[in-house]
Amino acid sequence: NSSVARYFDTMDYGPAPESDTDARQWLSRHAEGFGHFIGGRFTAASASAHFDTAEPATGQRLARIAQGSAQDVDAAVAAARGAQAAWMALGGHGRARHLYALARMVQRHARLLAVIEALDNGKPIRETRDLDVPLVVRHFYHHAGWAQLQEREFADQVPLGVIGQIIPWNFPLLMLAWKIAPALALGNTVVLKPAEFTPLSALLFAELAAEAGLPAGVLNVVTGDGATGAALVAHEGVDKIAFTGSTDVGRLIREATAGSGKSLTLELGGKSPFIVFDDADIDAAVEGVVDAIWFNQGQVCCAGSRLLLQEGIAADFIERLKRRMQSLRVGLPLDKAIDIGSLIDPSQLERVRSLVATGVREGAACYQPPGALPAGGSFFPPTLLTGVHPASTVTTEEIFGPVLVAMTFRTPDEAVALANNTRYGLAASVWSETIGLALGVAPQLQAGVVWVNATNLFDAGVGFGGYRESGYGREGGREGCYEYLKPRAWAGRKPRSAAAPAPAADEADKASATGALPTIDRTAKLFIGGKQVRPDGEQSQPVFSAAGHRLGEVGAGNRKDIRNAVAAARAAAGWSSATPHRRAQALYYLAENLSARSGEFAARLTSLTGIAACAAQAEVDAAVSRLFAYGAWADKYEGTVHVPPLRGVALATVEAIGVVGVVCPDEAPLLSFVSLLAPLLAMGNRTVVVPSERHPLIATDFYQVLETSDLPAGAVNLVTGPAAGLAQTLAEHDDVDALWAFGAKDLSRIAERLSIGNLKRTLVDHGLATDWHDGAAAEGPLFLRHATQVKNIWIPYGE
Ligand code: NAI
Repeated sequence: NSSVARYFDTMDYGPAPESDTDARQWLSRHAEGFGHFIGGRFTAASASAHFDTAEPATGQRLARIAQGSAQDVDAAVAAARGAQAAWMALGGHGRARHLYALARMVQRHARLLAVIEALDNGKPIRETRDLDVPLVVRHFYHHAGWAQLQEREFADQVPLGVIGQIIPWNFPLLMLAWKIAPALALGNTVVLKPAEFTPLSALLFAELAAEAGLPAGVLNVVTGDGATGAALVAHEGVDKIAFTGSTDVGRLIREATAGSGKSLTLELGGKSPFIVFDDADIDAAVEGVVDAIWFNQGQVCCAGSRLLLQEGIAADFIERLKRRMQSLRVGLPLDKAIDIGSLIDPSQLERVRSLVATGVREGAACYQPPGALPAGGSFFPPTLLTGVHPASTVTTEEIFGPVLVAMTFRTPDEAVALANNTRYGLAASVWSETIGLALGVAPQLQAGVVWVNATNLFDAGVGFGGYRESGYGREGGREGCYEYLKPRAWAGRKPRSAAAPAPAADEADKASATGALPTIDRTAKLFIGGKQVRPDGEQSQPVFSAAGHRLGEVGAGNRKDIRNAVAAARAAAGWSSATPHRRAQALYYLAENLSARSGEFAARLTSLTGIAACAAQAEVDAAVSRLFAYGAWADKYEGTVHVPPLRGVALATVEAIGVVGVVCPDEAPLLSFVSLLAPLLAMGNRTVVVPSERHPLIATDFYQVLETSDLPAGAVNLVTGPAAGLAQTLAEHDDVDALWAFGAKDLSRIAERLSIGNLKRTLVDHGLATDWHDGAAAEGPLFLRHATQVKNIWIPYGE
């Protein structure tokens, strides 16, 4: 026994460096500098402006990298465009073979890639070797499978075309894989811009991919800084931008692409809670914290950076955590025996330092384990801040470094409130040995990923992505595939034909005065919180028949009315927690009530739009059928149980988004209104709807259908009035979680551009007409997907 003790005592730390010979050889082959990788080969290194990158751990120069210009981006987009048709024509199996070959290629070069990544980023080789690279391999294998199954599983979808992808420096190769694997698998081609700090693994990957037979132009890499990224975002030949990075840049990109018709997904920052209940396995949870915040030096978008401890265990937990922090080793990335490497760059080091100093100034107690840090690089010790206030800077700002803040709570409700007290919503971790408690808390957390008794688990088959200001879109799994596809039925949409302008009010009045018919029958009010209310401005606007007669008036809603409607929708939270069965019943009942008044609605449609009686009847019938359809979907559009490669499951649950604004188009005014409202209701959203500006009476007639329904007050609110102005208020309102805008082209731009405040999700038509009678284009999963967000709840089990 004493010999064992002696053995342990002498097990002192000794560095175990990984060899960098191959990596240095590859770098020296490109000693004159890297070009961009366009059309299957490197451009001449001398052709562009250059900048140097440095090894974060030593500060020494590592490589000479080309600064991509607008011309370089243009050449890359042209190469991608040129390659796309043939890439698609390869078919699912053909592309599957290529993705499979990429997975094998990464496996063959695993060590080289792991070393390059550690040198370029400063992260421990242990992580690049055991996590980054294996996850990359798994991503390509998994998506080879989606390519193989595309024709069967996504038969009603087509690829988007050319994808511009912009990635950050924290997981350079893994983010490359997350971006390009689904895009390529499903028949798109790619222009990728890696982060300026870490371009090397992408350049190496592109070179190796070409050797592995990937056709020229399918994957292009243009290096450079934010200006290069901005040029890619602005390029007209790009069909979609997929971005991972800071929330600020995400906002800029949303603004820059607004109204352009480009699709956009954003994976942004986070301030994820790590919640420990008093019945948790404390030692396991302490180890979890290490993984949550000290993995990758805390430069992880989903890092568990806010530790929430139940009061009774807090002191003991902090004690054990501090002890564990003392054994974390900060060192050189290629040393296989270290836990924490270097931050990416002196600028990030400075940022982390100054945020910690702010925390201390604001009253936090700062703990850092003793011990010297390596000289030369951007090293920062593991750091714990206690005694922080929920509103202090370090609690609310993403630090993006190895810094944890700790707070306490008393009850589960308090834990949920604290956890959700952030503008982000990327991930959360819940620790409790009581299954009912953990699984009861998970659905209440506003986050795209929830880990139960675990943290930082990822898999290619399990979607990853945020709620709220953490962005929108998912990467991985089936939902990730949809981000690179569009419905076949939407692919050929044409711009709406400009409707004949509404008659000027005085002319129309003349027409009604000289015509025999009708007098103004009534002024329809707004419908807010289950009641008909007068518009705030006491203003109304006339509604004309197709023949130019004045049919009546509707309230002209304003900002205040929208705000009241949003408040009513917020308050109707019960609708979001109603069971799917109950929501289905409510939709069927709406259908029944509409059906009972079908003659009345058909006559109204005819007088409003001038369509023939039989066409009007067909529209009402279609609206009834659509309500039935979403009654049917309400309890059938469900989640999935994933089985990732670990002992456990990940439950992909679909959740309502919350409060959704809807702006309806003028065509088929009843059917389009129902087609947009019903999927949102079916999935448990509360809505603020602006009906067709031209034909609002069809929606105000609908009040009676709503009043006789069993929808709770506030689930549907209707504000009539000028569409553009009301869309603007909805887009700018921070309590609106998503906005759907159909109609004039300008509405799409307004919705996308003004939604950057809280980064609400948008669904817009860019002025392209939808055939509302065509079920493939106007009904079903494509709307349901936009009416929901997927939360993945990871539940590892067993020993
Ligand atoms: P960043 O968001 O500026 O960079 C991410 C990528 O976007 C890079 O490739 C960059 O060149 C590109 N980019 C920058 N400006 C652009 C523009 N206007 N248009 C198009 N592309 C543009 O992130 P940065 O500056 O490297 O890090 C700053 C902070 O962002 C970090 O401290 C951290 O808080 C956060 N961050 C979050 C990440 C995440 O995964 N959630 C990743 C990286 C940073």
